[in-house]
Amino acid sequence: MVNGALKARFSAYSAQPALPKLLHVRYPVWTVMLGMVFTEFVELVEERFSPALADAVLQDVAPPHGGAYTAVGYYPHEEMLALVGALSARTGVAAPELVKVFGHHLLKRFTQGHGEMFARSANLFDFVASIDGHIHVEVHKLYDQATLPRFKVLSRTPTTMTLLYQSSRNMEMLAQGLLEGAAQHYGEECRITQAPCSGAQGDGVLFTLDKTL
Ligand code: HEM
Repeated sequence: MVNGALKARFSAYSAQPALPKLLHVRYPVWTVMLGMVFTEFVELVEERFSPALADAVLQDVAPPHGGAYTAVGYYPHEEMLALVGALSARTGVAAPELVKVFGHHLLKRFTQGHGEMFARSANLFDFVASIDGHIHVEVHKLYDQATLPRFKVLSRTPTTMTLLYQSSRNMEMLAQGLLEGAAQHYGEECRITQAPCSGAQGDGVLFTLDKTL
């Protein structure tokens, strides 16, 4: 839940006009992320740590809009990295671990807000195979300026799957958390590992999903 101070900033900001216009004026598209990612990050910090820490982190980063994120706005990707860095500095938890935890949090939110996307798949592998061609396509229809990563299924058997993640944002730890969260959602035990990858199949991060444990 957002605290009072943040709520006030949220509503003050949502009264301002034309965020997409701001986007064109201030940032090239590939540098921005959808505001929902920021509002969820602030909520995570409030829930997992405290509203006071969320405020402190926002003050550390001192974004030009005062931390008044709106879910449908767009903000620089660097600002997300700065928020994670500030949280890491204040909590002593390594930044990649925090990003992974954020992935778990986001996945839960997605299951709450977009349950139909999960209901369409009977199991984890079907769901994961549908991220690129279906899930993120739907997301793009909802938020046409969202910049989404590529997830290519390279191999699949009943027990293992390999997946190539490609993104200029290098948010593989977010992907790790999202994938782990999805495994939990489908109630499947699955070891998820990642390794940098380059070569014929493309440059990126190779995820291996292994249910043989
Ligand atoms: C396990 C499933 C999923 C994985 C692994 C995944 C992965 C990711 C990653 C890693 C990003 C960060 C951007 C980047 O890497 O370039 C991202 C962005 C995003 N994803 Fe997904 N995603 C999943 C499912 C979903 C679902 C179910 C939704 C919505 C219902 C969704 C909506 C979004 C949105 C809105 C963004 C932000 C786009 C932007 O900042 O412009 N994702 N996804």
